[in-house]
Amino acid sequence: MASKTNDQMDRSFLTASIPKLLEEMTEEEKISLLAGKDWWNTVPVPRLNIPSIKVTDGPNGARGDSFYHMCPATALPNATCLGATFSTELAELSGSLLADEARARNASCLLAPTINIQRSPLGGRAFESYAEDPTLSGLIAASYVNGLQDKGVSATIKHFVANDQEHERMGQDSIIASRPLRDIYLRPFQLAQKHSKPWAFMTAYNKLNGTHCSENKWLLTDVLRGEWKFDGLVMSDWYGTYSVSDSVNAGLNLEMPGEARWRQQTLIAHSIYSHKIDPRTLDKRVSEIMNWVQKLAQHNEELVYAKPNKEKTRIEEKEADAKILRRIGGEGIVLLKNDQDVLPLNRPNTKVGVIGPNAKAKVLTGGGSAQLRASWSVSPWEGLVHNKPDNVDLSYSLGATTSKYLPLLGEEFTTLDGKPGFDLRHYAINKESGEKEENPVLTEQRDTSDMFMADFHPPELGDQYFTELLAIFTPGESAEWVFESTVTGQAWLWIDDDLIIDNSKYTSRGTSYFGSGSVPLQRTFKVETGKSYNIRYLHDSRIPSTLITAGSTPLTVVGIRLGAFPKFEPEQAIKDAVELAKNVDVPLIIAGLNADWESEGYDRPDLSLPLRTNELISRVAEANPKTVIVIQAGSAVSMPWINRVSGVVYAWYGGNECGNAIGDIIYGKVNPSGRLPITFPVRETDIPANTNYKSARTKTYYEEGIWVGYRWYNERQIKPLFPFGHGLSYTTFEYDNLKMTNQPPKNAKADEWKLEVQVDVKNTGNIPGSHSVHFYTCPPKETETSLKHPKQTLQAFKKVSDLKPGETVTVKVILDKYAISHWDEGYNSFRAELGEWYVKIGKDAETMIGEAKFVIEQEIEWTGL
Ligand code: BGC
Repeated sequence: MASKTNDQMDRSFLTASIPKLLEEMTEEEKISLLAGKDWWNTVPVPRLNIPSIKVTDGPNGARGDSFYHMCPATALPNATCLGATFSTELAELSGSLLADEARARNASCLLAPTINIQRSPLGGRAFESYAEDPTLSGLIAASYVNGLQDKGVSATIKHFVANDQEHERMGQDSIIASRPLRDIYLRPFQLAQKHSKPWAFMTAYNKLNGTHCSENKWLLTDVLRGEWKFDGLVMSDWYGTYSVSDSVNAGLNLEMPGEARWRQQTLIAHSIYSHKIDPRTLDKRVSEIMNWVQKLAQHNEELVYAKPNKEKTRIEEKEADAKILRRIGGEGIVLLKNDQDVLPLNRPNTKVGVIGPNAKAKVLTGGGSAQLRASWSVSPWEGLVHNKPDNVDLSYSLGATTSKYLPLLGEEFTTLDGKPGFDLRHYAINKESGEKEENPVLTEQRDTSDMFMADFHPPELGDQYFTELLAIFTPGESAEWVFESTVTGQAWLWIDDDLIIDNSKYTSRGTSYFGSGSVPLQRTFKVETGKSYNIRYLHDSRIPSTLITAGSTPLTVVGIRLGAFPKFEPEQAIKDAVELAKNVDVPLIIAGLNADWESEGYDRPDLSLPLRTNELISRVAEANPKTVIVIQAGSAVSMPWINRVSGVVYAWYGGNECGNAIGDIIYGKVNPSGRLPITFPVRETDIPANTNYKSARTKTYYEEGIWVGYRWYNERQIKPLFPFGHGLSYTTFEYDNLKMTNQPPKNAKADEWKLEVQVDVKNTGNIPGSHSVHFYTCPPKETETSLKHPKQTLQAFKKVSDLKPGETVTVKVILDKYAISHWDEGYNSFRAELGEWYVKIGKDAETMIGEAKFVIEQEIEWTGL
């Protein structure tokens, strides 16, 4: 019964002996397990009742099995926001919530967390990663993984390793010397492996030192399985397997997605026959896969063996989820500047002018595979309105736009029968004529004109097809409207009978749809009040013959995006905002980036806020110096206006509850406690990776070595815009009595080396507040024979909650061998410098407060965990 689905299987596999099962398997069955069944499921072996396992993205939500028909989900604040909380408790809570979310999408494996180092804030996916610091990244990741796996859902920690840029992401070679590789880029994975043992790893797209990660034996077998004793499953990133035997031999279990491109039956069988793959290696890879499948089936029995089920939105849990999201959002928001206590806005009779492109927009997550369809959402404007103290008065002005693309079809567009949204018809292609068939095979109604159809290949249509969007357009008033098309294939837009856009003959690609979409094409159309227009937008998924660039991705994706907006007058919008600013006590600008700018497949060109945002801020601040800026973004932006504004709040991407979390901070319902997990540079040229960020003739040289993030700024004495660890509060904290409460035994071996450190933290202000304490270690002075080390590195952190005014608590942490070790190329192991060391408390990564001395007299050397 070849087509037996999971629910038709007996459950003998749950207790089966994997070695015995292996003996019963045919070679064909073994090979079948080496690649996915489709985009999101592993291959079952019905004869032996081995079920299929479903996986889902990751990392700040569980999207489910379709980019096209996304199941409404709970979007958590993004990774940098979680990093900024410096709270392992909140990281664990995130993981635990996401386990429930993954299960609601019928998945027992989440493709998360992403823990690549934010080598540059310009990385397109920087927003998906926690930090520039390996210890912060690793410890937050470990707690997140524990939260997930304690509930039986597998983490897939990714992307292993050095996928720190999007430029040529599948082909570029990250050339990294062994010390920075160990101390910076591998360290978060190593810490996560030590403290949480993720059940799965996902390899990075790129090469590492000459060999693609998915076929890098040193990485997958020597380090991961050998040194770190990993015994789970390693899967490739999507279309990130690039070889047959090399990847199997290197230690890659699963080619994703399916069906197999490389690991097809004949190719693997031939590789075994020709002794390129040893049958024992095949058995090893297959047992590792089966162990993982068995573990997930045991932990998720009811889910794995259930009848094929529709994905669910966890509607009943909305209230509980909202509380958690709001808390994470609130604790991750960083108050960067607050001159003359302009914030919180809770004084009686305060007139606030809310300005800016992000105020009323739903900017909840970054783009790419991390994008989600939120099951509910609160925009900043809604959050400010709902949480407003009684005598604060709010008014609004747009000020500027921020989007790379025009907004999607809005309320002026309806289906043919007058409902919100539009009609879609999908047509097969006639095999003989190559033309669109006359009658549609599928019809549906949709509410968003951004359609990423990567996984929409119904059998009636196959991989290539036509899609037709039909809508009635009833504009409110006479105006010029701009229409914009960006697609992966070819498209034509008619309004009534006029062909307005012909997007079928482009020659190069833009950045949409992971780099597969056309450069956006815009045309203007005049409309009159009281009239309705017929919109017909036809898409042929075949790429145009005029396209000469091969493109940056082998994905066979289909993407269709139609935007429309009344012609916008940027100068007038700024003037209106300036007028408003003059007539209020505090102009509050909500601006930033969004999923158009921070996404997968491309990096940001520079640190600037988009389009005319900086000009808007400068002119508003000139009109009213009390201006406060709220920025939504996943990594750093530059702030040329910083000295002219009174307050800056960094809100990251806050997920479904972003508006409420912002409202809480602005009005002082929550006292800010977030601290920066990355350094904010003044300008691009200050970024450590600036001279070698991007692949140059296929290679990216990590020339800055270990001098990543604050390590660089401190060493070069470059003043950042804001240092790592910076974050203000509406109260003040003081530290006292920093001391060690033990001394490691004199001849301690690496694993026995433990140092307990404590410090008193006092809330010296007038209101309660939470605070994370950051412990740094400082190595002995450089000598003739020692290596050069960063002045100070973060090695532990702990957050205390709700300290009352005047209250003091003692915060304790235990430092272990990681806190004193660096990779020594000469010995091929981790070692500690001998001599006088200090523990210090970081006000931020530049400014240290207090010190406690300890001495290392004996050699410490180790490998492994
Ligand atoms: C991303 C992964 C993601 C996968 C599946 C890839 O493009 O790099 O992070 O898990 O797609 O969507």
